[in-house]
Amino acid sequence: MCGIIGVTGTGPAVPRLIDSLKRLEYRGYDSAGVAALVDGKIERRRAKGKIRELEAVLAAEPLDATIGIGHTRWATHGAPTTANAHPHKAGRVTLVHNGIIENFAELKAELVAEGHAFESQTDTEVVAHLLDSQLGKINDPLVAFKTVLDRLTGAYALAVLIEGEDGLILGARRGSPLVVGWGEGEMYLGSDALAVGPFTQKISYLEEGDFVAIDRSGARMFDASGAPADRPIVQVSASSALVEKGEHRHFMEKEIHEQPDSVQHTLSEYLDFVNGKAKPGEIDFATVERIQIVACGTAFYAGQIGRYAFERLAGLPCDVEIASEFRYRHPALTKGTLAVAVSQSGETADTLASLTWCKAQGLKTAALVNVHSSSMAREAGTLWPTHAGPEIGVASTKAFTAQVAALLALAVTAGVQRGRIDPATEGELVRALFEAPRLIAESMAMDGALKEVAHDLSKATDVLFLGRGAMFPLAMEGALKLKEISYIHAEGYAAGELKHGPIALIDEETPTIALAPLDDVFEKTASNLQEIAARGGPVIMIAPKTAPDPHGAGIRRVDAPDCHSLIAPLIYAIPVQLLAYYTAVQKGTDVDQPRNLAKSVTVE
Ligand code: G6P
Repeated sequence: MCGIIGVTGTGPAVPRLIDSLKRLEYRGYDSAGVAALVDGKIERRRAKGKIRELEAVLAAEPLDATIGIGHTRWATHGAPTTANAHPHKAGRVTLVHNGIIENFAELKAELVAEGHAFESQTDTEVVAHLLDSQLGKINDPLVAFKTVLDRLTGAYALAVLIEGEDGLILGARRGSPLVVGWGEGEMYLGSDALAVGPFTQKISYLEEGDFVAIDRSGARMFDASGAPADRPIVQVSASSALVEKGEHRHFMEKEIHEQPDSVQHTLSEYLDFVNGKAKPGEIDFATVERIQIVACGTAFYAGQIGRYAFERLAGLPCDVEIASEFRYRHPALTKGTLAVAVSQSGETADTLASLTWCKAQGLKTAALVNVHSSSMAREAGTLWPTHAGPEIGVASTKAFTAQVAALLALAVTAGVQRGRIDPATEGELVRALFEAPRLIAESMAMDGALKEVAHDLSKATDVLFLGRGAMFPLAMEGALKLKEISYIHAEGYAAGELKHGPIALIDEETPTIALAPLDDVFEKTASNLQEIAARGGPVIMIAPKTAPDPHGAGIRRVDAPDCHSLIAPLIYAIPVQLLAYYTAVQKGTDVDQPRNLAKSVTVE
C-alpha cells in the first residue's frame, strides 16, 4: 500500500522523509520519491525499486530544504517506472497520493483539451493539473484545493506542496487514512502513525472527507463541508512495532477500515485499470476444464463467492469444499481440473494437505494466499497473492475481502480468456471493480444504524442471516463472524431455503439480517422477508435506498450504497463485519482474541 509523509519545519527535511519512508517499506512498494521546496522552487527525486535507489539519486543530486513530501508507490495505474513514481508535478503543484481517482480519465480529457500535457500514466497526475489550474483562478490555496476535492470521485489520501506557498503542505483524506503529526516548530502528515513515528507521538487522526493545511506553527483542519474541524491530539505509543491499533479500539476495527486500501491493492494485482482490462496471468483459463477450490473457515466462504463468479462470468464449472472433508473423501477429479487453495495464512493444515494431495494427482494448482512466503505459496504451481497486509484480529475481515476481490477479478480474466466476456463487458466489469474501494469507504457510514441494530442483536440468542446468489455465502460468513466474536448462535441460509426449515425458528426474539442488493433476485428475497415479518420475526434488511420497501410490519432498513452486482459481496461484507464487531463490543467480549479460536490452525 502506498505510504505518504510530509514534513514542514526548520531543520533538514529530506533525511526525515527518507527515515519515514523506510518505516513505510512494510506496506510494500515498487518505487519511491520525494519533493522539496528549494529556494522557492519544487524539486523532485524519484527512483524505481527500493529506497536505497532513491538514496543513491539523492546522494548524486542532494536536496537541501526544510519542507518536503515523500511517497512509496505500489503501482496501480501504470507500470512501476520512474515517470509513474510520485511525487507528480504540474505547474506550481507537486503532490503524492494513495488511493484511486475513479474519474481520472474524464478529468484528464478535460485538462488535455485545456492544453495540459501529462507525463505519466497515473490517475494521480490529474489532481496536480487540476489544482494548478484552479490556482490560476483562485488565490487562496485552501479554497482552490477544496474545489479540486469536490471534483474527485474515488478513495484517496493526498499531500501537496505548492510553489510560492513556503512552509505550507495541504492534505486530504477520503477512504485512505491520513494523520497529522505535531512536533516542536515542525509539523507532519503521514499515511499512518508509523510514518510520523520517528518524529512525534502526538497525532491527530483526520476523519473521512477532512482536509488540512499544515505549516511550521500548526494545523488548520476542515471537514468535508469546508467547516473548521477540531480533531483531538492523541498520544500514541512510542513503539515502533509494524502493527498498531492507531485510532481504533481493536485490530478488527482497524482492519475493517483498511479495506478500501487492501481491496484496491489486491485488485491492482489482477486488473489493468489504465486500460480497463483484466491482466492475463500464468494460468490460461481457456485450458482449464474445472476449478476445485479448497479452504477452511472464512476463506471457504470467499471461495463460494468465487464460484458464483467463475460459473456466471466464465462458464467455468467450479466446486468449493471444506478442506478437512475434501482431504479424506477420496474425491474424483478429472485431469483438466485446476485445484485452488484459498487461505489467509497459507499454513492451515487441512488446506495445505488438500493442495499437496491435488498436486500429487498431477493436477495444476494455485494458492490464493495473503502470506506470500507461506507453505501453500511454495507448494502450489501458481501463486495468486492477496495484498491485505498483516491481519492480526483472529476473525478475518480484510483478508476475506481481498480473497473475494482477487477471485472476482480472476473470474473476469477467465471470462475473457474463455470468450464469454467481450471487450465492452470487460471494461464495464473492470470499472465496477474499480469503484469498490470508494464504495467500501462509503459503506462505513452505515456504522450509526448498525450500532443500533447491534444493540438489539446483543440480547438475542439466535440470529439468522439470509441472502441469495453470492449473498448466500456472505450470509454464512456474517453468521460465522457473529458466532466467532460475540458467541451468539447464528446461521446463514439461502433465502429460498427459509421455508424448508429455518422458518420454524422465527419468533419475536429471533432477528433476521437480510443482505438484499438490488439485483435480479431482490424481489424474491423481499417476499421471503415478508414471510418472516408476517410471523412476528424482526427483520433488518440491508439494501440500497433505491430498493422498494417490502410490505410487512417490523422490517427495518439499513441503507447500503448502490453498486454493480459483481461487487456486492465486497460492499455488503462491510455491514456484516461491523454488525458482528459492534455486537461483540456491546457484549464486552475479547474481540481480537475470541475464546477457543486461533488465527492459524496448523493442526488437524
Ligand atoms: C482459523 C481462523 C479463521 C480462518 C481459518 C482459515 O479458523 O480463525 O479466521 O478463516 O482459520 O485460515 P486461513 O489462514 O487458511 O485462511
